[in-house]
Amino acid sequence: MATERSLILFKPDCIQRRLCGQLLCRIENKGMKLVGMKMLQVTQELAREHYAEHVEKPFYPLLEEFITAAPVIALVVEGPDAIGVMRNLLGTTNGRDAALGTIRGDYGVSRQMNLVHGSDGPEAAAREIDIYFRPEELYDYTPTLGEWVCADDEK
Ligand code: RTP
Ligand code: MG
Repeated sequence: MATERSLILFKPDCIQRRLCGQLLCRIENKGMKLVGMKMLQVTQELAREHYAEHVEKPFYPLLEEFITAAPVIALVVEGPDAIGVMRNLLGTTNGRDAALGTIRGDYGVSRQMNLVHGSDGPEAAAREIDIYFRPEELYDYTPTLGEWVCADDEK
């Protein structure tokens, strides 16, 4: 177990469908600590940097069109095993297949418009946090309820 940080994006469909509040609520309810948050417009250049692993794939042009179509909200969340915990909370890529109880399973029916991005591993998380946030935009603080979210040997 380790305390990790994950880069989360509320994608353009999340903004357009006005689901940010509900989905942020689920992330906070799960026990994740917010350490950074901002709204921004993803440019073509930023999309290519973020999704570098997909740039050569056939679906990339549609992915770029989608992710640049409206603003996004970028978040950094922190918690025990935050990367895997967030991936489980999001569910599998395609909302049609994602398990009920997950964000994608409960809120969507699309493979592309799947509402929220989450880093898929520690290297990706570090790279993506660095792309979206300057160090001074991330906040270290002690959450008052932290003592009641998990035991000391789980942090
Ligand atoms: P994400 O990176 O956004 O958290 O999603 P993911 O890991 O579950 O899925 P990934 O394979 O990394 O794909 C990135 C995003 O590209 C869109 N996509 N479209 N048309 C297609 O075949 C296709 N496949 C993926 C989705 O928006 C997916 O989240
Ligand atoms: Mg991915």
